[in-house]
Amino acid sequence: MSGLRLTLTDAGEDFDTAGAAAIAETVVADPKAAVVVATGRTPMGTYGRLARALPAGAGSALRVFQLDEYVGVPPSDPRSLAGWTRRSFVDPLGVDPRSVVWLDGLADDLRAACRAYDDAVTSAGGLDLAVLGLGPNGHLGFNEPPSDPMSRTREAALSKASLASNAGYAPGLPVPRSALTAGLDVLLAARRVVLLVSGAHKHEIVRRTLRGPVTADVPASFLQQHPNLQVVIDRDAWQV
Ligand code: GLP
Repeated sequence: MSGLRLTLTDAGEDFDTAGAAAIAETVVADPKAAVVVATGRTPMGTYGRLARALPAGAGSALRVFQLDEYVGVPPSDPRSLAGWTRRSFVDPLGVDPRSVVWLDGLADDLRAACRAYDDAVTSAGGLDLAVLGLGPNGHLGFNEPPSDPMSRTREAALSKASLASNAGYAPGLPVPRSALTAGLDVLLAARRVVLLVSGAHKHEIVRRTLRGPVTADVPASFLQQHPNLQVVIDRDAWQV
């Protein structure tokens, strides 16, 4: 794991500040970087901190890619991951939403939508940065176990673990059964990956991700082979 940089923090503000600094490194080095950004609970404080830390407009030229989206959910739906990406990252950084590469979970032809996404990544010259969270079962985006490292962007059925953990995102509304996800191939090919992990409930899956065998059964374990991985993790999760 020679490419691993581990940033161990206290929970809360310290974590958010370190996560924001990690992302800001790429923004400062290349204000037009192609970045894919996760939603979920983990990065919300980080994104807020990032928007406050960057000079106004500094992140507005980023080429943003959505990480995943539920199938059949419009952007206006409270469950939409596009809506969440927009509220938490795109709008606070002043990125033009029309320039974002979205995953269209309402497309008539979902396969074509996924191909268009992969083509957009290729046209961008690949991703400069992937900001990822860690699913409770080791998923990245919705690359559920088992996922081949060459998996393309595609529709994936949500695992029981994902259905359970995502149930709290929009209380009272059912979690859709499937989602589009950026493929492991484009995520693992990102020139830099920042993995954000917080909370004691993640400590076992973090151990399997970073110290366990590299296996499709823990999709995030392929990150062990990534040449430029930064893991920002709080002490609650770091009990490896
Ligand atoms: C969700 C999303 C991922 C997210 C992960 C962790 O299901 N598909 O993109 O990174 O699980 O979520 P959280 O940060 O809420 O723990």
